[in-house]
Amino acid sequence: MKVCVFGASGYVGASVYQKLKDAKDVEVVGTYLEEPAIFDDLYKLDVNEEEAFSNFYKETKPDVVVWSVMDGPNEHELIDRGLINLITFLTPQTKLVYMSSDFVFTDGKGPYDEEDNTSKLPEDHIYSNYANAKVKAEHFITKELSNYVILRAGPIYGENAIGKLDQRTDELSCRLRSDQQAEFRNDLVRTFVHVEDLANVIVEFAGNEEKGLFHVGPEDKKSFYEFMQQMAEQMGYDPDLVKKGSEDEIADREIPKDISLKTEKIKEVTKQNFR
Ligand SMILES: NC(=O)c1ccc[n+]([C@@H]2O[C@H](COP(=O)([O-])OP(=O)(O)OC[C@H]3O[C@@H](n4cnc5c(N)ncnc54)[C@H](OP(=O)(O)O)[C@@H]3O)[C@@H](O)[C@H]2O)c1
Repeated sequence: MKVCVFGASGYVGASVYQKLKDAKDVEVVGTYLEEPAIFDDLYKLDVNEEEAFSNFYKETKPDVVVWSVMDGPNEHELIDRGLINLITFLTPQTKLVYMSSDFVFTDGKGPYDEEDNTSKLPEDHIYSNYANAKVKAEHFITKELSNYVILRAGPIYGENAIGKLDQRTDELSCRLRSDQQAEFRNDLVRTFVHVEDLANVIVEFAGNEEKGLFHVGPEDKKSFYEFMQQMAEQMGYDPDLVKKGSEDEIADREIPKDISLKTEKIKEVTKQNFR
């Protein structure tokens, strides 16, 4: 089986790439964009560049594609150009594993299940580019393709396969190391998923016949405050340095406070236990 990981130099992609390299009977290729590449055998590719994408894809001819690319404020471009480039080449035999987000839920209250309606944010909202691009991508994939898995994740945390921490935990650790307090909101609730659990699931889905849309992560949800207290404790710091933050919200940052995910469905098809 030949797997191509787009975004193999990223936080999630690097774990997936490393695991696939270590897996038996798997040939893996991966792409990066900005120097330096995390692995020295990655291909430099801007997925938005049509000709470069076409050349790379025709040469690579993967059986499975993992889409672990993200470009925050330019996420729309990644969908309108990058994902379209990919979909042009995907045959029904090639499986797509696409990473999506809990940000597709901008209405109502969590925990959401896979069947709940997704919705877009107003165009002038600070998160609209990212969130609406994910909604659009999911819509596009479910309409145009049949051989796909969409994995929706909340905040991804922990040390990945190459020793990189997520930005939030990294910043927390820096503050606590110098005995500074850190504040996190207790009213914003999410399903936090460990990067290694997620990467294991991506690798599992790359190699099996499962298809469809799945929420990834543990059963329980937490507020950022609860989660960060737990992180502080796990890293050996005093959890009391983590305080409850202000719950005032700026209008253009508002999304539902609880965008946690119901994760029963994925438990039926994966070997992975979510920590
Ligand atoms: N992190 C989270 O908490 C979270 C939560 C939910 C869902 N997700 C989803 O999970 C996936 C992976 O996220 P991540 O945290 O691993 O993101 P990341 O660390 O920012 O990695 C994203 C990668 O995308 C690559 N990239 C950006 N623009 C590109 C382009 N035009 N052409 C080719 N490559 C491009 C970057 O390559 P270079 O580094 O080489 O420049 C980067 O390595 C994304 O789809 C994201 O939406 C993440």
